[in-house]
Amino acid sequence: MKQNKKFPSDFLWGGATAANQIEGGFNEGGKGLNIADVLPGGKERLAILTEPGFDFKLDQERCTYPNHQAIDFYHRYQEDIALFAEMGFKAFRLSIAWSRIFPNGDEEEPNQEGLDFYHRVFDQLLEHNIVPVVTISHYEMPLHLVTEYGGWRNRKVIKFFERYVETIFTAYQDKVKYWMTFNEINSGLVMPIMSLGFSKKANEQENEQSVFQALHHQFVASSLAVKIGHEIIPDSKIGCMIIYTPIYPYDCDPVNVLDALEKEQVFNYFCGDVQVRGEYPTFINRYFKEHGIALEIEAGDLEIIKQYPVDYIALSYYMSRTEKADPTDLEKTAGNIMSGVKNPHLKASDWGWEIDPVGLRISLKALYDRYQVPLFVVENGLGAYDKVEQDGSIQDDYRIDYLREHIKAMAESIDDGVDLIGYTSWGCIDLVSASTGEYSKRYGFIYVDQHDDGTGTLARKKKASFDWYKQVIETNGEKL
Ligand code: BG6
Repeated sequence: MKQNKKFPSDFLWGGATAANQIEGGFNEGGKGLNIADVLPGGKERLAILTEPGFDFKLDQERCTYPNHQAIDFYHRYQEDIALFAEMGFKAFRLSIAWSRIFPNGDEEEPNQEGLDFYHRVFDQLLEHNIVPVVTISHYEMPLHLVTEYGGWRNRKVIKFFERYVETIFTAYQDKVKYWMTFNEINSGLVMPIMSLGFSKKANEQENEQSVFQALHHQFVASSLAVKIGHEIIPDSKIGCMIIYTPIYPYDCDPVNVLDALEKEQVFNYFCGDVQVRGEYPTFINRYFKEHGIALEIEAGDLEIIKQYPVDYIALSYYMSRTEKADPTDLEKTAGNIMSGVKNPHLKASDWGWEIDPVGLRISLKALYDRYQVPLFVVENGLGAYDKVEQDGSIQDDYRIDYLREHIKAMAESIDDGVDLIGYTSWGCIDLVSASTGEYSKRYGFIYVDQHDDGTGTLARKKKASFDWYKQVIETNGEKL
């Protein structure tokens, strides 16, 4: 029987960003410093993110901080939103910078100027009939909560987060219905600094203990956000957000199959299991035992987690990962936070991320089979070097090819029976890379004239992919 491969008529096509990667204005409007503000740009960032010992101090003598200016969305949001509207966006994913609303994170009262900024942004989106899809915390908790409280390891942060979510749900109740709590919550397993607010520890056991304890606090906080959100905005949809990277065994040796499966359980499913099913999965007990992890769980925590699961799963998908139990002698790959061994069947991006559209279909099938809740692909895209031609055009056919194949995979997955509600491709406008702090790693349909050496005019320019994506949205994914 021929399938129709159609996207639902209310499918949320659009683009995605994060406050710290686009806004700039890092010390304007009463905003406090956050983690992203102290991360230097350039390749050294990745080491800071993944190795122990970062001190969270600004060192303006030695380092540059591209997030301070980012792409100046703080002042140019009207122009940018008009361009999104021209592409026909149905949805725009952005995050609220927690430290614009609570500059230190532990104040009693919010910063009105910060609240007003997002009112203006949401009004602008709604005027263009673009649905705001809001990440509550995307890699940038207030720095004060990091330096004074130790980030999410400290249970007190749950209270501050509750105050923050109550404030924003109340302020934006008439404007925002789609929310998600923590960006790529499972990234904390590998890179605690950005999402959990502390630097990785040298001692692996100590590190894991802190990471899982901090994640427990985020699970409770996320469930409380669902509770408060549904009370204040009864028709809201509040999701979790996970980085999903399907893990393939290198070959059919059962030892490697088991290894890949166990890595998937911990990295891909642990957080979703807690946030969607409302329970710690049983496989984690053995993991905790073997890694010497003992969680402090207070009375009532598990009940809250059980009672307030998320409404949908938002996921980022960039690549798959291939693993072998004993990878010695095999070539490694680069990757989004996690890397595995080289997959001989796949090509890679300019940054070495393996390109695998079929992996997206595998991911959507796997997630929907496991959870049966709506899925929303809120990140997917190709980070690449773009070139401005003599005539001023930017011919990013490689990006179009990447997106086309991933959109086809989504269409297939809809035929597979997956309840997929939307697609917001990552970095719809060029922005600062999260892992490297580079401008040159570009994802956008819109080029931003800003460069790693600090030069640039910040002017916006449409790439070839701009008109292509416009047509995709116009035809609801029929014309690719
Ligand atoms: C995701 C993050 O992991 O990947 C984004 O949620 C990030 O913040 C995106 O920008 C792409 O990664 P990178 O390192 O290329 O910016």
